[in-house]
Amino acid sequence: MRLVLLGPPGAGKGTQAQVLSKDLNLPHISTGDMLREALKAATPLGLKAKATMEKGELVPDEVVIALVKERLLKEDAKRGFILDGFPRTPEQARSLDKNLEGLAMPLDLVLYFKTTLPVIIMRLSGRRVCGQCGKNYHVKNFRPKVEGMCDSCGGKLIQRPDDKEETIEQRLKVYEEQTEPLIDYYKKKNILAEASGDLEVRELNGVLMDLFRQKKLLKPQVVKR
Ligand code: AP5
Ligand code: MG
Repeated sequence: MRLVLLGPPGAGKGTQAQVLSKDLNLPHISTGDMLREALKAATPLGLKAKATMEKGELVPDEVVIALVKERLLKEDAKRGFILDGFPRTPEQARSLDKNLEGLAMPLDLVLYFKTTLPVIIMRLSGRRVCGQCGKNYHVKNFRPKVEGMCDSCGGKLIQRPDDKEETIEQRLKVYEEQTEPLIDYYKKKNILAEASGDLEVRELNGVLMDLFRQKKLLKPQVVKR
């Protein structure tokens, strides 16, 4: 299955992508995570992207397009993938279409997580991430077993630099201006499906699984649980 997760910051794309990736055995490809990893490793790409990301603006199209193009050539992407946070501009969407057409791997579905503003603000302002492995937590919704410490690797939990109030505002503005037009773009291609990003993780997962069954995208033996 080849999926794109579309939605505002804080819609829960990364969280749901992790669950789907495990259940469907598909690689989770997040451009945000890839850029943060590059930053952590202090690669030229990461250092260049740092200021842009911290301001809540978008990294240039050609940079992310090249990143994803290379990632999609890896062996594991042949069985399908979950793209999270890409595409995010019409230019990225057109380039992805062209790339996938060349690989004879068209998208099956674009899942748009429609999410209300109070939920977005509550999610982003309460998000904490592991500074070491990047795992996501939330001060109310997903608390670690030990306060301030990652359950998986023991790393220190921190707030993402772009989760500050003023940067959240900027990210939402950028989303409205540059990413929202993709809803219509994929609607016209007849591959857009909408689900409520306000739902709790398991509930949303159930809605998505039903949708995959309806669209005959799910073979019964694929689901591990
Ligand atoms: P990116 O990392 O993609 O950030 P984003 O799109 O702003 O989205 P988020 O990761 O903030 O939200 P999410 O929907 O994944 O929510 P999450 O699951 O974490 O991009 C960061 C930056 O990188 C960009 O600003 C840009 O600079 C650059 N970049 C990345 N891709 C790019 C591209 N294609 N082009 C150009 N630049 C690019 O959930 C949020 C919180 O809510 C968590 O605490 C979680 O635990 C909690 N939560 C999640 N789901 C639920 C739920 N259902 N119920 C209760 N709590 C929940
Ligand atoms: Mg994310």
